[in-house]
Amino acid sequence: MHIMSIEYLRSLIQGFLDPQTGAQPFVAPYLAHLTLEKGKLTYIFDVPTPALQAVNQAKNALDAFLMTQPGVKAISGIITHKKIATPEKQVPAKLPMPPIRAYVAVASGKGGVGKSTTTLNLAVALSQTGLKVGILDADIYGPSLPKLLGTFEKPDLTDDKKMIPITWHGLSCMSIGFLVPQDMAMVWRGPMVQGALHQMLKDVAWESLDVLLIDMPPGTGDAHLTIAQSLPMTGAVIVSTPQDLALIDARRAMTMFEKLNVPLLGLIENMSTFVCPSCQTEHAIFGEHGARNEAEAQGVPFLGALPLNIELRQASDAGHPLTLDRNHPIATAYQKIAQQLNNLIFSSPQGTE
Ligand SMILES: Nc1ncnc2c1ncn2[C@@H]1O[C@H](COP(=O)(O)OP(=O)(O)OP(=O)(O)O)[C@@H](O)[C@H]1O
Ligand SMILES: [Mg+2]
Repeated sequence: MHIMSIEYLRSLIQGFLDPQTGAQPFVAPYLAHLTLEKGKLTYIFDVPTPALQAVNQAKNALDAFLMTQPGVKAISGIITHKKIATPEKQVPAKLPMPPIRAYVAVASGKGGVGKSTTTLNLAVALSQTGLKVGILDADIYGPSLPKLLGTFEKPDLTDDKKMIPITWHGLSCMSIGFLVPQDMAMVWRGPMVQGALHQMLKDVAWESLDVLLIDMPPGTGDAHLTIAQSLPMTGAVIVSTPQDLALIDARRAMTMFEKLNVPLLGLIENMSTFVCPSCQTEHAIFGEHGARNEAEAQGVPFLGALPLNIELRQASDAGHPLTLDRNHPIATAYQKIAQQLNNLIFSSPQGTE
């Protein structure tokens, strides 16, 4: 009987195609050990994470194939999980920033769920607790801060040509919408987004702040990466309606922030219920408690819920966030969230300097 040479077996293994997928999973670099002794073939594959599933899936087929080879009577094959020495955690160059104690992104994944409305009302509520608060509108394609503030004034420049944030009801505000017409912003592309964001961070004379709230654009794209990589982020607040579709996107946003090592500070349910102004009946238009349940499922703090409220929308459109009316029930809801956020940011280790 012809006994196979070990080198021939090696080439058979390495050239083996998974009959299910047609892939060639047992490539040379993973083969850590191969012997054939008294008819017993022993192999060890040490496989890095990305290839592990494909290798495990094809193992039975490989073994069956090898058993058909002359001289192979038994097989002892082991697949081990290669622990890749993680390269020194990449620390991208953070931008030199002024003394800002906490950077908090307000994001959602899905568009139109109320990120910008939440950012502004929370900023007002946080400043009502005595904190010095700023807002950075990171929505380069569709900045909404100027409209929400009801001002399109251009920032003044300092002597060294830095832009001075617009001061509005004590908040320091910066948006690309103060600098370029809205339709121009719409055509910007990836690298320009990064450039524009960097400019709004390093070419702006930000004063010392307790919190900079960053109103994120919808989606999970360039702006998110740029913000997470350029700033020492304290965390992200996720806004979602209770609707499944919004929650799916919220989940995507949460996963992205986790991957970027940005802590999740909590979830806010917006457009939670609608109280009919004429009959006072409460309607759960987008379903009930979706975001609250999601927060629980993800182990993320639930920060609170805001109803779908026509006054809130009208006031926003008029450049007057309702939270400015301190005693309005909507203001109270934002103030409660702001209080929780304040505790989360400044009582947790990442918030203390
Ligand atoms: N709780 C609410 N009740 C009523 N209207 C609301 C509520 N929250 C937000 N809105 C309104 O919904 C619209 C969208 O809100 P907003 O612009 O804040 O969403 P967004 O998530 O920032 O959108 P985009 O993804 O486009 O940035 C606005 O007209 C706003 O006034
Ligand atoms: Mg927005």
